[in-house]
Amino acid sequence: MLRKILDSRGNFSFECEVAGDSFFGRCSAPSGASVGKFEAVAYPKSVDASIEFAKSRVVPKLAGMDVREQKRIDSLLRETDETDNFSNLGGNAAIAISLACAKASANLQGKQLYETLGKGRWFPLPLSKIIGGGKHAVNSCDIQEFLVFPSNAKKIYPALKANVSVHKKVKERLKQRGVTIGRDDESGWVVKLKTEEALEMLSQACEEADSETGLKIDIGLDMASSSLFEDEKYIYEVDGMRLNKGEQLELVLGLMDKFKLSYLEDPLQEEDFEGFAELTKKAKNCLICGDDLFVTNKSRLEEGVKKKACNSLIIKPNQIGTLTQLEDTIRYAKENNYTCIASHRSGETCDSSISHIAVAFDCKMLKTNVVGGERNTKFNEIIRIGERIGSWV
Ligand code: PGA
Ligand code: ZN
Repeated sequence: MLRKILDSRGNFSFECEVAGDSFFGRCSAPSGASVGKFEAVAYPKSVDASIEFAKSRVVPKLAGMDVREQKRIDSLLRETDETDNFSNLGGNAAIAISLACAKASANLQGKQLYETLGKGRWFPLPLSKIIGGGKHAVNSCDIQEFLVFPSNAKKIYPALKANVSVHKKVKERLKQRGVTIGRDDESGWVVKLKTEEALEMLSQACEEADSETGLKIDIGLDMASSSLFEDEKYIYEVDGMRLNKGEQLELVLGLMDKFKLSYLEDPLQEEDFEGFAELTKKAKNCLICGDDLFVTNKSRLEEGVKKKACNSLIIKPNQIGTLTQLEDTIRYAKENNYTCIASHRSGETCDSSISHIAVAFDCKMLKTNVVGGERNTKFNEIIRIGERIGSWV
């Protein structure tokens, strides 16, 4: 069964249900707003057109196949689409079908999705946005995501509480300033502050939350730099800066040092492997993470490994389109000591397959928010998985 459902932004999303006498699996796809140039095309024409393509071209071939044959299912999706980046079927349709089959397979075996996917059994640290800007908000900070994570958490509830605590504390501080605030697409606070002002406020909130929770809460940024990049310059409207590559690198290293950042996603634009390599070499105790740079794509990661760009990558299933390719990318990342961070998209549904992926493949963190129903449903699923596993709840 294929249908369209609403996502958190009020856009329609592709949902797939796979059912038989003794199994059932359902999955819907999220959507990005700051989409990488090299990602699979989410919906080449429209959600309706992807549903039509899937109904006429994919479903007849899938019908009657064994849902446990994930590799065959995923090859069929690729072959039917006939392109490298799903520009006929759509990457969002492909991943919803691929993961719905994986869930149906788990259901048939009487297992949870994470149990059939991999051996990982530890919880991913919650990486959550506290202040949002860029393409996820209007009239806001230049940088897309000001993030936190409790780096030394050993249990899921205190870990979640730490992020919640920072989120609330920043709200209090903004209230005290008397400024108008709102929430962005991912439930980060929207306020027009300069980059350093936002980081100062976040640092103070983290320090307070540290002493309250007894955890060490670290700060990170997703700079989503491709969205800042225009005519060879990084443009910061609120900060009033137009930086060339060298100046951008200097800015990033300066912020890393001053605010002890331990996570930096997309600090340079998506084609600058060399810049990423230079930064990775100079960074100390900081994950330099590629999102738009790698787009969960093994070939792009191979180039990164060759050039020594980054030490970490974002895992977003719909960037690549099939579970098989996602697994290939994760396996290759691990072989090359890259830290995997599973991630939501800015437009989300209540689907929580990403939580199972994060646990099964031992991702160090799960990047999503602790507020907003479509976000915290992912962490709530982590809690349920933890109860089954029994060691970190
Ligand atoms: P997106 O952004 O989901 O809007 O693409 C999230 C990110 O850049 O990490
Ligand atoms: Zn990103």
